[in-house]
Amino acid sequence: MTIRAVVKGVGHYLPERVVPNSEFEATIDTSDEWIRTRSGIERRHFAAEGQTTSDLGTRAAQAALAHAGMTADDVDALIVATSTADFTFPSAATMIQARLGMTRGFAFDVQAVCAGFVFALANANALIVSGQAKRVLVIGAETFSRLMDWQDRTTSVLFGDGAGALLLEAQDGSGSNSDRGILATDLNSDGRHKDILHVDGGVSTGQTGHLRMQGKEVFRHAVEKLAETAHAALEKAGLTAEDVAWIVPHQANIRIIEGTAKRMQLPMDRVVVTVQDHGNTSAASIPLALSVGVQRGQIKPGDLIVTEAIGGGLAWGSVVLRW
Ligand code: UT7
Repeated sequence: MTIRAVVKGVGHYLPERVVPNSEFEATIDTSDEWIRTRSGIERRHFAAEGQTTSDLGTRAAQAALAHAGMTADDVDALIVATSTADFTFPSAATMIQARLGMTRGFAFDVQAVCAGFVFALANANALIVSGQAKRVLVIGAETFSRLMDWQDRTTSVLFGDGAGALLLEAQDGSGSNSDRGILATDLNSDGRHKDILHVDGGVSTGQTGHLRMQGKEVFRHAVEKLAETAHAALEKAGLTAEDVAWIVPHQANIRIIEGTAKRMQLPMDRVVVTVQDHGNTSAASIPLALSVGVQRGQIKPGDLIVTEAIGGGLAWGSVVLRW
């Protein structure tokens, strides 16, 4: 018998304010047409003044718990993937834990920027298969609007705010790749690339700072590394791209998403795409896409799903799971 971490619930939350590309035309030298054609983004949501990452994460967690028919009392561990926690500490995870009324178990943040949700899923899986937790709530929540330099047209038009969450539960599996749940993970990082995507602030500077990105360089790494990590995870699970029902990629740029699908020799009708509506929500983008994919009726029980993401660090990885 093998223990598997199986998805029991999924949910998301998006802040109310929707910002179309055209809104940027008034303040910077850009156009709806440039943003659409270079990134695929049409609109994004921005958090209201005073609305924080833990606010968004709490709403997504509540939605996932409701979908699973569970309460915070049923959860042993809570992991939040974020680079925009409300404070330097405590973690966003413990803040959300308190807001959910979860008074037992443990909670912590994972910081792997846009790859954060993949890293958090791999951690949740390890907690479950090692018997340290039976039910883990995994949340991706971000307010990247707080990191934008609004005068920088090369970054400010690309990002959005939001949160998504999955509730994973330990279940007995057969050990074969026909089991439901997480089947394989592949995590990577290479700290030599820190300058191509980073925030120029933090504890060492005394200011929050702004996101800085050499877009072309990140793009080059993304197209190369995402298909590679997806293949690596599939291989560990004894599966191939042909077995995949849905790629649920990090939603940064439609051209990266298309390039990765092409390298995996999968058509775009097997890819869940939300980048047009959410922009790049960093660690929130995959759980948001999973939740929207379920709502749209795309993702169904038994479907083989490959998630893949890359972000600052660089950090990148993939998780293969059967829904
Ligand atoms: O989630 C973390 C991972 N992040 C990513 O995956 C992002 C990866 N990178 C990208 O998605 C793309 O590189 C971008 C969307 C950021 C940029 O697309 P690109 O095709 O690589 O454009 P570029 O940076 O080469 O810029 C082309 C031109 C430049 O003008 P010149 O130098 O050719 O005159 C830019 O200054 O487009 C200009 N440009 C803009 N023009 C209008 C850059 N930003 C804008 C803008 N509006 N917002």
